[in-house]
Amino acid sequence: MSKNIKAEIAVLGAGPGGYAAAFRAADLGKQVVLVDKDASLGGVCLNRGCIPSKALLHVARVLEESQEVADFGITFGKPKLDVDKIREWKNGIVSRLTRGIGQMAKARKVQVVQGVGKFTSSTEMAVETDDGTVKIEFENAIIASGSRPATIPSFPVDDKRLLNSTGALDLADVPKRLLVIGAGYIGLEMGTVYQALGSKVSVVEFMENLLPGADADLVRPLAKRLKARFENIWLKTKVSKIEPQKNGLKVHFEGEKKVEPQVFDKVLVAVGRKPNSENLGLENTHVNVTDRGFIEVNEYQRTADEHILAIGDVAGDPMLAHKATYEAKVAAEVIAGLPAKFDARAIPAVIFTDPEIAWAGLTETEAKAKDIPYEKSQFPWAASGRALALGREDGFTKMLFDPETHRVLGIGIVGPNAGDLISEGALAIEMGADAEDIGLTIHPHPTLSETVMNAAEVFTGTVTDIYVPKKKK
Ligand code: NAI
Repeated sequence: MSKNIKAEIAVLGAGPGGYAAAFRAADLGKQVVLVDKDASLGGVCLNRGCIPSKALLHVARVLEESQEVADFGITFGKPKLDVDKIREWKNGIVSRLTRGIGQMAKARKVQVVQGVGKFTSSTEMAVETDDGTVKIEFENAIIASGSRPATIPSFPVDDKRLLNSTGALDLADVPKRLLVIGAGYIGLEMGTVYQALGSKVSVVEFMENLLPGADADLVRPLAKRLKARFENIWLKTKVSKIEPQKNGLKVHFEGEKKVEPQVFDKVLVAVGRKPNSENLGLENTHVNVTDRGFIEVNEYQRTADEHILAIGDVAGDPMLAHKATYEAKVAAEVIAGLPAKFDARAIPAVIFTDPEIAWAGLTETEAKAKDIPYEKSQFPWAASGRALALGREDGFTKMLFDPETHRVLGIGIVGPNAGDLISEGALAIEMGADAEDIGLTIHPHPTLSETVMNAAEVFTGTVTDIYVPKKKK
């Protein structure tokens, strides 16, 4: 059966980029069709990424805290895990959210087509559905096809013990020994989950630090905690071979220090993600794709094809859901003729490990690489009453300022809830706030948010919660 649909806007992909674009466009009065191959809307983020991982990280945090409070004089017994129930709980959260997206699509009269979409021209798309091909004729399309886990071709295929992020989130079981390849966002978040659930976790990373993209000082408190909890952390090392055996996966290493080959019950490959730009029929359009597979877009999210825009992971780094959602609104508004463009000054990054690491705006790594002048101030959480009350003094908040204007250029935080605290820094950067703006804003006491104010006060020389010797003139 074949069917024809005419739409003002066709959106390909229903992740946090695609559904936001579709809904914003519908709210602006456009007639929208939203195409996704999955019945469950929400893309990787909701189904197999951000949301299920945060559910499991919460489980990990509760397990950890239940043992750590022994230091405060509270002792719980050893936790009993019902892995099936944990999985069910996590899946329940996912289905509640994805159902909500389906309901919102209905309420906004966005037509959802389930199937694999492919461009046949700059104004037409063919969607292979279970009931045959659906042809969509559109005035504009927004590509929001996302990304997928990168793979290592020499590793065995179809071995259930070799996981990517999707498999790790499925939580089929809790392996006795888990090897994580890649100490990036996914590797460390999922390593944290499985360690808390009882796995002996080893991490192998070919760069010299965990989270190689992050400022080294922010990573240090996390590295210290992970060293005490993970079985091994092998840096400047890579996996040269994986041999499937009856009793597990035998892994061979290559690196600066010799690591003996050893057997793991499961191996999680978390070595980055690749944009989904192939098999979209882009050769039938004027869209350009970079060497790395990203669709080229300008600040209006427009591609080289006047009818087609692109957003989210497929349109370039950083591959973060909140960047996709921002771009989605730009794309929908640009099509609707509103004066929108991507002009955000900061895209916050958060790694939801324990402690969390977050930053926004300029990082010291970037400032040094690009020779950007900055002055830095820092407030240790050991001086925060609230951090001590949580039993966590390992964090700190740092801010980078423009030496001339004293405006906030960047902020970095490590500690529990850093991911929530970072938004104030992002707002400060967007608003062009300076150190005094933050230092003179009354922050509620006792909260971790005060550490942002305190870091600014360290810069203005007005801090009273720590003693900072005066700078010699
Ligand atoms: P990633 O780029 O964060 O980390 C990959 C790590 O693997 C890097 O440290 C890299 O040096 C290392 N690596 C690459 N090849 C290797 C090899 N052969 N052997 C050993 N190490 C190797 O990528 P990841 O963790 O897979 O996540 C993908 C993306 O998904 C992230 O960049 C992020 O954009 C997004 N994400 C965001 C999250 C968040 O916002 N909290 C959570 C999870 C993912």
